Amino acid sequence: MKDLWEFSVKDYIKEDNYKNGTLFNLANGYMGMRGYNEFSLYNNPGNYIAGIFDRSTAQVTELVNLPNPLLMNIYVNGQKIDLDINNVIDYQRSLDMGNGILKEAFIVEVQKGLRVQIESERFVSRKNFHRWACRYSVTALDSEALFVFESIIDGGTVNSGHNPKELSAHYKVSSVQDLKPGVMMVAITNDKKIEIAQASCIILKEKKFSRLKFNDLQCRVQQAGDVIAAKGETIVVYKFGAVYSSRESSNASTDCKREIEAFIADGYEAELEKHSELWQGFWNSSDIKIQGNEEAQKALRFNIFHLSSCAYDKDPTVSIGAKGLHGEGYKGHVFWDTETFMLPFFIYTQPQVAKALLMYRYNTLDGARRNAFMNGFSGAQYAWESADDGLETTPKWGYDYNNKPVRIWTGDIEVHISSDIVFSIFEYYRATEDKDFMFKYGSEIIFEVCRFWTGRAVYNKNKDIWEINSVIGPDEFHEHVDNNFYTNYLVKWTFSKALELREKMKNEYPLELNRIENYLCLTEKDYAIWKNISDKILINKQKETDIIEQFEGYFDLKEYEITSVDENGMPQWPKGLNLSELNSTKLIKQPDVVMLMLMMPQEFSEQELKANYEYYEKRTMHKSSLSPSMYSIMGMKVGDTHNAFSYFMKCINTDIKDNQGNSLLGLHAASSAGAWQTAVYGFGGFSIDSQDRACFSPWLAPDLQSIEFSVVYKNSRIKVFYDHEKVVITSERDMQVKVYSEVILLKSGIECEVRINK
Ligand code: BGC
Repeated sequence: MKDLWEFSVKDYIKEDNYKNGTLFNLANGYMGMRGYNEFSLYNNPGNYIAGIFDRSTAQVTELVNLPNPLLMNIYVNGQKIDLDINNVIDYQRSLDMGNGILKEAFIVEVQKGLRVQIESERFVSRKNFHRWACRYSVTALDSEALFVFESIIDGGTVNSGHNPKELSAHYKVSSVQDLKPGVMMVAITNDKKIEIAQASCIILKEKKFSRLKFNDLQCRVQQAGDVIAAKGETIVVYKFGAVYSSRESSNASTDCKREIEAFIADGYEAELEKHSELWQGFWNSSDIKIQGNEEAQKALRFNIFHLSSCAYDKDPTVSIGAKGLHGEGYKGHVFWDTETFMLPFFIYTQPQVAKALLMYRYNTLDGARRNAFMNGFSGAQYAWESADDGLETTPKWGYDYNNKPVRIWTGDIEVHISSDIVFSIFEYYRATEDKDFMFKYGSEIIFEVCRFWTGRAVYNKNKDIWEINSVIGPDEFHEHVDNNFYTNYLVKWTFSKALELREKMKNEYPLELNRIENYLCLTEKDYAIWKNISDKILINKQKETDIIEQFEGYFDLKEYEITSVDENGMPQWPKGLNLSELNSTKLIKQPDVVMLMLMMPQEFSEQELKANYEYYEKRTMHKSSLSPSMYSIMGMKVGDTHNAFSYFMKCINTDIKDNQGNSLLGLHAASSAGAWQTAVYGFGGFSIDSQDRACFSPWLAPDLQSIEFSVVYKNSRIKVFYDHEKVVITSERDMQVKVYSEVILLKSGIECEVRINK
């Protein structure tokens, strides 16, 4: 059904324009354009190129909000079409997710007896990453009318436009040009002098403007044309757009000019067709079909659409920020969100994108080395928040839940990220067997992270153990804690995997090992310390209970019960709780022990998974959008299926229902990825066992009819369909898989059916 490919709003509510900027964002990995509404002044425009950061007077370096080329004013008989002023008769804005097209259609009564129908389209090309375009179809319904189309590139945009106290300007307009036809604006960022050239051009379909004027309005450049339309005649205007920057071009303005000329010559429809084909190709391989719940189907596609629109395999020096290319929240910075949450989606659907994302970590390794050095360690310490060079960019100050200024410690002590990256490299390698990446790049990251941990861990002589003190684990309510279970366990795992890798390289790839060892000056002494820490790091598991203490002293903290939820089903703060003393309570922001158990379930017994899920779930406030999907997956693993389904619905509606209250700042990209993980790891029961076999133990909620998905594993696409009776599975290559407990040898292209025992 077509409708399940369309996300739409049917009422025009001007206050929603801000969050709709995120929900209707279009991106192609190279650039992102927020869903700016041309027919309203209530907007927070946002146009970004991945990797263009600038600090200027801002608190920290941030993704630059570039000049806005989307301004388009349409006047009819001298009156501006304005959704906030005109009488809006019929309205719909929708995202065609199958084809990557944003559409808006409405009729407005500009004056009594002057009704105009407008239909518009916009796309950001997936075929040619430097192109975007709009199409406006305008009809005067009641009489002949004079239309004026005014297209503008606005070089007056700033960052943090939603917050008057934090505005910051990051570029200066250096020139504007009449391209005849079309206009171009060149801007230059303040710090690194990155040049950005943007061009646009309006062209009438089949008719000609009576006059087309170029206007240099200092920080705005305008192209305006007029045309007379008969009553009922539809006028079609194309707006072509191109953008280049000096990050990828030695002459951005020449390339930009060439690009828009070529685009006009190719034509709007031809570009749109290729763009749509690419989106459809993506969906053919990466869609997840859910029969039996239309809301879930649509919302899941919404999340996959937005997440994959941030993907780009052409530039290994950029990654995906926590808010995607959808807004300025978290300043466009990259967190563990990318590796721990988003990467699985890319590993198993588009491994080439996963590789580019990991290469970003390789290309910013020097920044990570510098972070370690600045903190007095050797090796590489990845930034909690990273931008273009890998240096730590977490702001030092922010606001707490009471809106009081507060020191932010995550950049100093949320150190688990370095091992999260190591973990994701092994995940990528296991799925792809990409030796070239592992031995040239991945291993260097892994060894350098080990080096960092040898300095960060401390040896406790009295107890003959290694400890990691004063950290923040994934649960950020608790700061400066000692021996966080998640962190220590992952560090232990990091060392033991690094030593395994070293052995493998010694036997099978001695030349590569030799190169890295020489380059990093690694000696037997280093390996001996790694082994020692791995053997003796404190892993705080109590004998008498399966419940694992999140960090030393957690069990002694104050208990609060979560008793109420808000209209979106999200927990409300317990009564009597002092929000500046969260550190002293057992409430947690998001899974911590449970997070580790999800990452490496094979390391824990079923009883441990269940006990910890039950213990921590009740204490979780889900103040991070990363949280619900993880509890959903664990809920399914331990049999709490009712809750699991409801967490899944919360996760897929994070932005659609704005249930964290900040969707206007950008996509909750890790939550979008969590939606995919829940469908594939949770419902699909996908995992890899100790023999590296793909395993599937699907579960279907009673109300659903079937689910269909696929994963790419070891260069072979495995397709899975299941309903309440059977699982049907095929693979492109011969391979052994496991369905529930049955081991099956799949023959390339031949369907295999497994009946489900109830
Ligand atoms: C979460 C972190 C996450 C960050 C960016 C925070 O609220 O606690 O885990 O990395 O948001 O999404």
